Amino acid sequence: NNPPWPAYRGYHEYSFAHATMQSRLPTILGKAIEDAIRTLNDQAEEERVVDLSESIERMGGLMTDLSGNAKLRPIIDDSEADVALWNKEIAKYFQGKDFMNAPWLFAEAYKYRRLHECFSVSKFWKDYDVFYRQKCDTFSRSADAVFELSMRFAEPFKIAEGLSNQEELEAERLMFLELTQVCLWGNSTDLSLLINMSEEQIKALQSTGGDHLAATEKNILGNDLGRLWETVKELRQKTGGRIDFVLDNAGFELYCDMVYADFLLQSGLANQIRFHGKRFAWFVSDVTRKDWNWLLNTMVYGQLFPKASEEELESLRRLGRRWKQYEKEGKWVYEQHPFWCTGYTYWDLHSEAPDLFFHLSKSDLVIFKGDLNHRKLTYDCAAPASTPFDVAIGPMASAAGAPRIASLRTIKSDVVVGLGSEGDDVAEKLDETEPGWKISGKYAVVLLSDGRPG
Ligand code: F6P
Ligand code: MG
Repeated sequence: NNPPWPAYRGYHEYSFAHATMQSRLPTILGKAIEDAIRTLNDQAEEERVVDLSESIERMGGLMTDLSGNAKLRPIIDDSEADVALWNKEIAKYFQGKDFMNAPWLFAEAYKYRRLHECFSVSKFWKDYDVFYRQKCDTFSRSADAVFELSMRFAEPFKIAEGLSNQEELEAERLMFLELTQVCLWGNSTDLSLLINMSEEQIKALQSTGGDHLAATEKNILGNDLGRLWETVKELRQKTGGRIDFVLDNAGFELYCDMVYADFLLQSGLANQIRFHGKRFAWFVSDVTRKDWNWLLNTMVYGQLFPKASEEELESLRRLGRRWKQYEKEGKWVYEQHPFWCTGYTYWDLHSEAPDLFFHLSKSDLVIFKGDLNHRKLTYDCAAPASTPFDVAIGPMASAAGAPRIASLRTIKSDVVVGLGSEGDDVAEKLDETEPGWKISGKYAVVLLSDGRPG
């Protein structure tokens, strides 16, 4: 049940795996320790101080293991729902492996689980999120793009009057294509890569105007946008479909996902959206329940943007109130299955989390956001760029009941598939002319698999 291509590993020096395991992860962990120390220095109660300082000591231990390339050990049974899944995978495949020679995807995920363990075994700090401050901070520095979208979309979506059916559909198609791109490029600002970005750099990445989108479509190297529209427009015939988002990053990306989801509901293309987030801090910026709540509440009640006009702030409040209402009415549902925070790729989703697979199989479309989800879909292995998407995702396309899947991903790591029959040449040319093209986030893919209705 594995693809024929080798998975990337930390010792592969030609791959982003090496830089990540060797230097990015220790840097990220170092920042996490600084964050916990900052919190420690704010505490007054002795019991809480002692408890947190023990967590910080455990993080130090993890740093030693990571930088000394220790062998992977089982996860301590902290009675979390995912422990059994983790230890089964370690025992079965990765016994005796270390951070560098285990598959990169697994070793990197394992690091985030071990980081969580530093807190989950404590008494008072079980849910502490070492990346929370950073996640909130980046959203507050995204003001321009946040208000550009809220000013346009606070007013409920309406098609101009007096249009023929044909013209209405065309207006809707254009809006769909634009917002799919907003949702896609919202993924280019993730914190694990862009730790020290300035406000100007964030602005450049987040500009969402129409001309800009036409230009950026050229950078979508595997582009199923047209097919995606043909599929989604059929959902209305069923009086709206169910669309699932397997979320990636909190803050600005989540906000873009919500703008898109709002349009899908208002246009009647979908009647329910289910969002899947993480149970604990994951790959720095991924969405947790707390990030979800924070975003909606800060939009309605927050004071994050002191320089904004009253009109801008009101547009943000309106959006926030509408989205909270969707949640109350069950039109938007937030979920967090333990499987999303394991080291398994999605080639194993149907066998290791059959309940989740069954749940997803009832969706009309499952949209996977971002780079990590794409790595998990494709097994994070050295598949040629011409590999068709549904071949690259194996059982997620071919197992009975496989849902229709779209991957909206800006390219930030090695695996690239779905570029069509000329894809290998395209990739080779970019390797020559733009050596960093696979990690810059400048390029993207929008890929669709029709699945196999059960
Ligand atoms: O550390 C590498 C990585 O896993 C890459 O997949 C990507 O650079 C980043 O972390 C996460 O990106 P995203 O938030 O888009 O999944
Ligand atoms: Mg992420």
